[in-house]
Amino acid sequence: MATLRHSYIAGVGHYVPSRVVKNAELETMMNTSDAWIQERTGIQERRWFEEGTDTTANMGANAARKALEMAGVDANDVQMIVFATLSPDYFFPGSGVLLQRELGITNNCPALDVRNQCSGFVYALSVADQFVRTGMYDTVLVVGSEIHSSGLDKSPEGRGVSVIFGDGAGAVVVRPSTTEGQGILSTHLHSQGEFAEELIVKEPGSNRDNRVQYILDNQADLYPYMNGQNVFKHAVVRFPQVIKEALDQNGYQPQDVNMLIPHQANLRITQYVQQKMGLTDDKVFSNIQRYGNTTAASVPIALSEAVQEGKIKRGDLVCLAAFGSGFTWASALIKW
Ligand code: ACO
Repeated sequence: MATLRHSYIAGVGHYVPSRVVKNAELETMMNTSDAWIQERTGIQERRWFEEGTDTTANMGANAARKALEMAGVDANDVQMIVFATLSPDYFFPGSGVLLQRELGITNNCPALDVRNQCSGFVYALSVADQFVRTGMYDTVLVVGSEIHSSGLDKSPEGRGVSVIFGDGAGAVVVRPSTTEGQGILSTHLHSQGEFAEELIVKEPGSNRDNRVQYILDNQADLYPYMNGQNVFKHAVVRFPQVIKEALDQNGYQPQDVNMLIPHQANLRITQYVQQKMGLTDDKVFSNIQRYGNTTAASVPIALSEAVQEGKIKRGDLVCLAAFGSGFTWASALIKW
């Protein structure tokens, strides 16, 4: 069989809504405290979308424009869109087609929505990588975008979940690598449906006799439920596992990693993974303090900021890793 080509990330960008919500503001709504939130999660503030300005699709488009500009690619040269979100604009159709329209892409390229929550962006990147590696497409736009704030229970009952999540978007452009040894070396995807209900928004579920009536009568299940301690327990095992899988496959050791970009789930989870891998602070990127957990948007926002801040240089070994609802987990190892 002929050797498959590699893909690489030719451009990256992000967008976050302008409204900053500090922990002190949440104290006024949900019987919580800045000290509790910072101690358990590391989060100091997050962004909440502006109704009438931000949508999941247009935030993704804002991030995508920056990624396309960095890649030097015209929007109409995009050959495929892969859009990761757990908070789509509509029940259907997916947000990928809305982003296509928002960007003025008129070439009828395919738009695929990926629903893998916190692992969504790494899953979406893997899809793009496969299409580019096989030669099917030369330019794939991968987007992660989320609006959590409109779906959170902002009363005291929701405090265990609602202090964690924030809104934002990130995007990358994936193209064939022209430099030997440069690009996405491998991706690794996993799931374990046994734990599907441990982190879930249950309604509106389709398996009801009359789902519209059901949600009118059972509104509580429209809010996210999370078994936080069980999520934590699994996350600290799966993150190191899937990172090791990527390093082993490519013959690298943890100390070879120049930058680990973990899904920004919780600062305590990231610190645990960092310690387990024996990485110094300068090799692990964290911005959860400023954005909270933005699920499918968190990895591309972090990657975009790391690149912007000059923390990733050409030739660096960069590892992306994620874990979340499903449970799902994933990694991507990249020679930048
Ligand atoms: N403010 C103040 N008190 C709170 C809050 C809050 N926001 N939320 C819960 N509490 C209280 C609880 O009511 C409880 O009180 P009690 O002892 O009187 O009953 C106490 O704090 C401890 O609650 P726990 O749920 O046991 O708190 P825990 O130490 O487990 O921390 C947390 C909760 C932060 C959610 C933790 O379990 C965690 O980090 N889990 C990982 C989940 C995660 O990161 N999810 C992100 C999404 S999934 C992903 O991205 C991988």
